[in-house]
Amino acid sequence: MIVTIDGVAASGKSSVSSGVARALGVPYVSSGLLYRAATLLAHEAGLSPHDPALVPHLEAQPLRFEPLAGGNRLWLGTRELTADVQSAAVDAGVSAVAARPELRAWVDRRLRALTPPFVAEGRDMGTAVFPHAQAKFYLTASARVRAGRRAAERPEAVDEIEAALILRDERDRAQSVPAPEAHVIDTGPLSLQGVIDTILAALPQ
Ligand code: C5P
Repeated sequence: MIVTIDGVAASGKSSVSSGVARALGVPYVSSGLLYRAATLLAHEAGLSPHDPALVPHLEAQPLRFEPLAGGNRLWLGTRELTADVQSAAVDAGVSAVAARPELRAWVDRRLRALTPPFVAEGRDMGTAVFPHAQAKFYLTASARVRAGRRAAERPEAVDEIEAALILRDERDRAQSVPAPEAHVIDTGPLSLQGVIDTILAALPQ
C-alpha cells in the first residue's frame, strides 16, 4: 500500500509522515529531500537549474537516499548531506530547481523505483507520482503557524521565516495542488499526534 501526504512548506509533513509510517511499520519517503539534494549539488558544481548538464551531473554522483520510518537520510559517498540540505540557502533555491521538468523526472524516477509499502510525502505525491495510492492526504496551516513551528528548529526570526514560506508557497504553487480525492487537514489547531491520529483513523481498513 502507498499513502501520500502532500502539503505546503513546513506544514509538518515529515514529522507526520514519520509518525504515520512508524504506526504502520513501513518507511516514509521525503521527496523534498531529493529536490534539496539536487539544489545543493547544483550549487556546489556551479550549475544553474536551467543548465542541461545538471541532470547528467546528478546521475553521475554517488547519491544514496535512505528512506527509513524514523527519518530520511542522504549521502554523497561517505559524506552525509541530510543536515546540509536543510539550510536557508537551499530553501531559497529549491523551487527554481523543482520547476524544471527534467529535474522532476529525475526525482520521479528515483521515487517510482522504490518498493511499496511506504508513506510518500511532498507536493505532488498523490497527483503526479503515485496517482493510484490507496489513501491521500494534504496538510495545510496558516503561514504564521508554520513559521512559528519552524522558528523552533532554525536560528532565523519568525517574520523572516514567514516571508520566505509565503514566497516558496507561491513558487511551488504549480506542483502543489491537492488531489481531488485527498483528505485536506488544517494542522493549525492540531498537535502532531492529533494529525497522525486523524490520518490513521481515515485509512482504509
Ligand atoms: O518538502 P520540502 O519543503 O523539503 O520540499 C522542498 C522543496 O522541494 C519544495 O519547496 C518544492 O520546491 C520541492 N518539492 C516539489 N515536489 C515535491 C516535494 C518537494 O516540488 N513532491
